Amino acid sequence: MDKLIIEGGKRLEGTVEVSGAKNSALPILAAAFLSKEKSVIKNVPQVADIFTMVKIMKSMGAKVNHAADTVEIDSSNVKNPILTYKLVSTMRGSICFLGPLLARFGQAQVSFPGGCVIGPRPIDLHIKGVKALGADVILEHGYVLAKAKQLKGRRLFLGGAFGSSVLATANVMMAATLAKGKTVIDNAACEPEVVDLGNFLKKMGAKIEGLGSPSIEVEGVKKLHGATYSVIPDRIEAGTYVIASAMTKGDVTLKNLNLNVLGAMLDKLRDAGVHIIEKNGHVRVRRERVLKPVSVTTLPYPGFPTDLQAQMMALMCIVPGISVITEKIYPERFMHVSELNRMGANIILEGNSAIVGGKKMLSGAQVMASDLRASAALVLAGLVAEGSTEVSRVYHLDRGYENLVQKLQSLGARITREKDFR
Ligand code: EPU
Repeated sequence: MDKLIIEGGKRLEGTVEVSGAKNSALPILAAAFLSKEKSVIKNVPQVADIFTMVKIMKSMGAKVNHAADTVEIDSSNVKNPILTYKLVSTMRGSICFLGPLLARFGQAQVSFPGGCVIGPRPIDLHIKGVKALGADVILEHGYVLAKAKQLKGRRLFLGGAFGSSVLATANVMMAATLAKGKTVIDNAACEPEVVDLGNFLKKMGAKIEGLGSPSIEVEGVKKLHGATYSVIPDRIEAGTYVIASAMTKGDVTLKNLNLNVLGAMLDKLRDAGVHIIEKNGHVRVRRERVLKPVSVTTLPYPGFPTDLQAQMMALMCIVPGISVITEKIYPERFMHVSELNRMGANIILEGNSAIVGGKKMLSGAQVMASDLRASAALVLAGLVAEGSTEVSRVYHLDRGYENLVQKLQSLGARITREKDFR
């Protein structure tokens, strides 16, 4: 296992390219299975979750050619629509094969993804969705077994205790493309990644309206064809660099970013006093003054994203004053709290809220994170901490941040990756 060593205190300066969005690319790759024809997906980030996805596609018999940021998928020979536990257990995103496999093959067998360090991750909405389209679903021996000779479109409400669901919306939308008749998904997720998936499906010949709104309409078609498509930039990766610039009193320009997709995050950072402007398709983030604490509540898009909650908390740790960070998507997603406190932060947890007493300085320490975004928060804290910070279990970061070390180094950070022999 590798670890990152960060010497804190360097101001970040320069330009960084935003990679393609992991959470768009995952369902888009699965969607390619809706057609027998070849699809070519570009701007795919080179991260571990994508490598796992490629393995899954190959395990089902697809021919996949993955070179740099392009993935070519030919699923014409797929005869085995089964996702085993071994494959699914390493990446929950693989549940997004349920809809495409069911729609194309009339059946799907997908291992139940189970719990997760960021809290319970149920799939009841995925199951409700495909059942509403007429699938028979049984849960047996840890697998979801779904069958339907012909899916049938209908109106359904896809909301749970925590609101809309990104991947359940993706699954139902994908399944509905080949269903008979019209499907209306009420309380659909509005995240840009769902819009991106929808745009790819439209390029494949799907008839979809209402993308980006809570009511998505899909008119089923007989078949879809292959398509070439480029994935949108990763707003969560971008947001992480925006926060890095703000924390280090930096001046960082992000290439390939539409400011609008940052939603509430942009508003909150501007409220805190971070200077953010867009010019010619690039976004420049500067911090010239003392920041103010801001309170944040995570919500479905366009609310503040849960995937940036940990990074925002790292920022608030060094902004003098009190801020409250409330998690309304994954109420238990606070693994970073104890590790940030180990670095001298002052955070108290009260239910699904973290009360952060901002300080002038953090101090470098040996820390360990147990999920992707928590790890990113610890790296950000390390960039400003006094002395050296070691972040272990780097494989979490490898799942979702392309070339993190190289990108931070190019901005002037003192960060290296080493083998961890402990
Ligand atoms: N939920 C249910 N039932 C379901 C599905 C979800 O109750 O059947 C609940 C969840 O427990 C959660 C809420 O609904 O409380 C929203 O979860 P959602 O289904 O939207 O999450 P997801 O689709 O499984 C994607 C991202 C996550 C991101 C969430 C929320 C991918 C591959 N994953 O997960 O990304 O946190 O949306 O925006 O797209 C990450 O990248 O680090 C990550 C965890």
